Order: sequence, then structure tokens, then C-alpha cells
Amino acid sequence: MRKIQPLPPEIDIATLNMISDRAADVIDKVRDAMLAPDSLKVSPKFNSQQLADLTGLELGNVQYRAKKGELPSGVQPDSKRRSWTLPEVQQWVRSVKANNLRNVDTTTAVTVCIAHFKGGVGKSSMVASLAQGLSLRTGARVLIIDSDPQASLSTLFVPEATIEEDQTVLPLFTGVTDSIRGAISKTYWAGVDIVAASPALFSAEFILPTRQINNPGFEFWKVLDAGLEDVRNSGEYDIILIDTPPSLSFLTLNALFASNAVVMPLPPNNLDFNSSILFWQLFTETCEKFAKMRGDAKKYHFIDIVPSKVDRADSISVAVQSWIDQAYAPRVVPHGIPKTSIAALASASFGSVYDMDSSSAQAKTLARARDAYDQLVDYIDNQIAGIWEYQHQQYIASELKIAEAQRALDRARKSQGA
Ligand SMILES: Nc1ncnc2c1ncn2[C@@H]1O[C@H](COP(=O)(O)OP(=O)(O)OP(=O)(O)O)[C@@H](O)[C@H]1O
Ligand SMILES: [Mg+2]
Repeated sequence: MRKIQPLPPEIDIATLNMISDRAADVIDKVRDAMLAPDSLKVSPKFNSQQLADLTGLELGNVQYRAKKGELPSGVQPDSKRRSWTLPEVQQWVRSVKANNLRNVDTTTAVTVCIAHFKGGVGKSSMVASLAQGLSLRTGARVLIIDSDPQASLSTLFVPEATIEEDQTVLPLFTGVTDSIRGAISKTYWAGVDIVAASPALFSAEFILPTRQINNPGFEFWKVLDAGLEDVRNSGEYDIILIDTPPSLSFLTLNALFASNAVVMPLPPNNLDFNSSILFWQLFTETCEKFAKMRGDAKKYHFIDIVPSKVDRADSISVAVQSWIDQAYAPRVVPHGIPKTSIAALASASFGSVYDMDSSSAQAKTLARARDAYDQLVDYIDNQIAGIWEYQHQQYIASELKIAEAQRALDRARKSQGA
């Protein structure tokens, strides 16, 4: 006869509290150990070759310019080596690649949302790497917004801090404020600021529908869009990246409706692929509903499907990738992100591949992972530049229209006076 074990005591709220406290305690210890000696994250330093690669200059030219002193000359620990800090590198990149900078008088910051229904597809890792890569390779000033109550992205950028509610998007959703500005914090990575997240954001899922019921004219899906208007137009940021929860929640809808473009990381496996199909179906239905209700149809400048966590050795993933290519062509980005132990290690140490030291034991794997991200960063940067060019042309066209209207008015006045 089967021997049945007696049930352990029932788990009550006090025990739940104990489990939760102990888990929080463990992650605090892990964080302290990973970020030793002072529990603070620091950005990497760059050598002459890395600076040459980032600016596209010859190594000799970098050394010549550094000596001339027009741009930061870094520090020279010995006669052979020179090293630069992140803000110094960004100053070089912005100066050498000045032609690529946007015209702040005629364009606004571009907002890109990283979204997928499914958990664990690499959304937060992608936002972190894109933010760091864009700020490093193009000198862009990036604002990241964590709209996921799990706050994974925030953990990567402000691991040492406890996040208060007023540092999140929540005051915007409760209606306490109408601008995101007050919620912005600096991060350890110069050129990347953050609106962080905390579990308190879960309450947005009740607050927004309640506001909608109480005020039928309210548009719950446009709160973040309106809250970003101020910083989008101020010239302080070039790119805004939004991380989203793994669901089509009120928070995700706000992120999607605040964006000019969408990036979907999609690992080539059957379940993630299926979930992506459902995501686009539901999102399209929602957009159609809003368009019918309010007559304003949402448009995007680009939608990118980025193969993520790609394991080329896995024959099933190769097959699923071909379905993805068929389903989403031509929106599938040619450079996927490979599944690497170094990317997993990077997030385990509260960072991304751009935080990792290239002299580490896994230098080859790191180079492969970073190379893939560099290509993705450049690809997305190109598309963003396309949006700025479009905005610039729109601006010029509207200026021409205004000037033409003014001339017509002057002519009419003159002929009346004559
Ligand atoms: N290129 C990669 N190679 C290997 N592991 C990766 C890669 N990208 C992300 N991961 C790992 O996959 C896990 C999930 O990544 P991440 O948190 O970025 O996904 P997510 O889509 O944001 O998840 P969630 O939906 O829960 O917010 C993490 O443990 C991360 O280290
Ligand atoms: Mg995430």
C-alpha cells in the first residue's frame, strides 16, 4: 500500500512574510557581493584602441588628437597606455560624429518601446544594452523608462537604491502630475537617465480603469504619451526607450501609445513565436477599437522583430526562425542576438555586455555578444536617424507653408491698401 506523508503545517501569512523577507535578504547580500567593494556600480574605462573603434578614427589619429588637447586627453598611467572615462569617450564621439547628431530645433526625442507578451524573451536586457550602446556609439542622450512592476531594468541601472514611488511613472498615472520630469534619476552610466519602476506600479492596473469610469473623456492609454511631451520637446534627450511588462496590460498599452517605434525581441522557439502572434492580434484589435472610439489612428515609423537568445546549434530553433522570417518579413532585423553565457552572466552581475571587461576569461564570447549588439545598435540608430530626417522635412515644409501664407497675407493687405 502507498505510504502517504502527513501534510506539513499550512502556510499562513506570517510564513509568507518570512519567505519574502528571507528572499529579499538574500538578493541584498548577492548584490553587495557582486558590486563589492562599495555596492556601487561604476561605468567602464576605455583604451585608445576602443576609442578609435568607437569614433572610426585611426589609432594614430586618436593619439595625435589626444596630445593636441582639443578633446579630452584621458589619463596616462604609463608611457604606453592611455585611458578615457565614459563621459570623455562620449565627448569624442559627439565631436567626431557631429554630422550624425540631430537638429534639436527641428526634431524631437524619438521614443521606442520594447515589448512582447511573453516573459523572459530578453526585453529588459535589450533595453539596457540598447541604451548603453546608443549612448556609447552615437553619443545620444538616452532616457529609459521602466514600466514593468518587476523592475528588472531598474535593478540593472540603480541596483544600490531603494526606489521610491515618485521616481516611477505612478504619479503620472494617479494624476498627481502631468509630466514625467520629476521622476527622472541619473544612473551610474553617463548619458543614460532613468524613470525607474517598483512593485507599486501594479496599482496602475486599477487606477487607470477607475479614472476612465469616473471620467469618460479620459484616455487611459495616452497618459504616458502626454507625460512625455515635456521632455520629448526639451532637447535634453535624443532617445527614449521604454521597457514593458510581459503582458498587454494598461502599462504596456501606455508604452505602445507613447512610442514612435516598437522593437520585439523574439527567441526562435515555438511558444514565444505563438505568443508573438497573439500579441499582434490583440494589439491590432485594441488599436482599431481606440481608432473607432476616438478617430485617431496610431502609426509607427518602424516595427522591428529582433531574433533574441538565438542558439544556432539548435536545429529546432533554426526551423522556427524560418517561420518567423516568413511571418514577419521584412521586419525581421538581420542581426539577431545570440544566446551566450556572457549575456546571462552580465545580468547575473547586474549589468549588460557593455559593462563587461573585455580582458575577462571569456573575451571571445564577449566579443561575439557585443558585436551582435553593436550591429543592432547601429541598425536602430539608422532607423531613428530616418525619423529625425522625416521630422526635419515636416518642419521645413510647415515653415514654408507659414512663410507662403504670410506672403499671401502681405499681398492681400497691399492690394487692399492700393
Ligand atoms: N542573449 C542572451 N543570452 C543568454 N541569456 C540571455 C540573453 N538575453 C537575456 N538572457 C537571459 O534571459 C533572462 C531573461 O532576460 P530578460 O529579463 O531581459 O527578459 P524579459 O523579457 O525582460 O523578461 P520579463 O518578461 O520577465 O521582464 C535573463 O536571465 C537574462 O540573463
Ligand atoms: Mg523584463
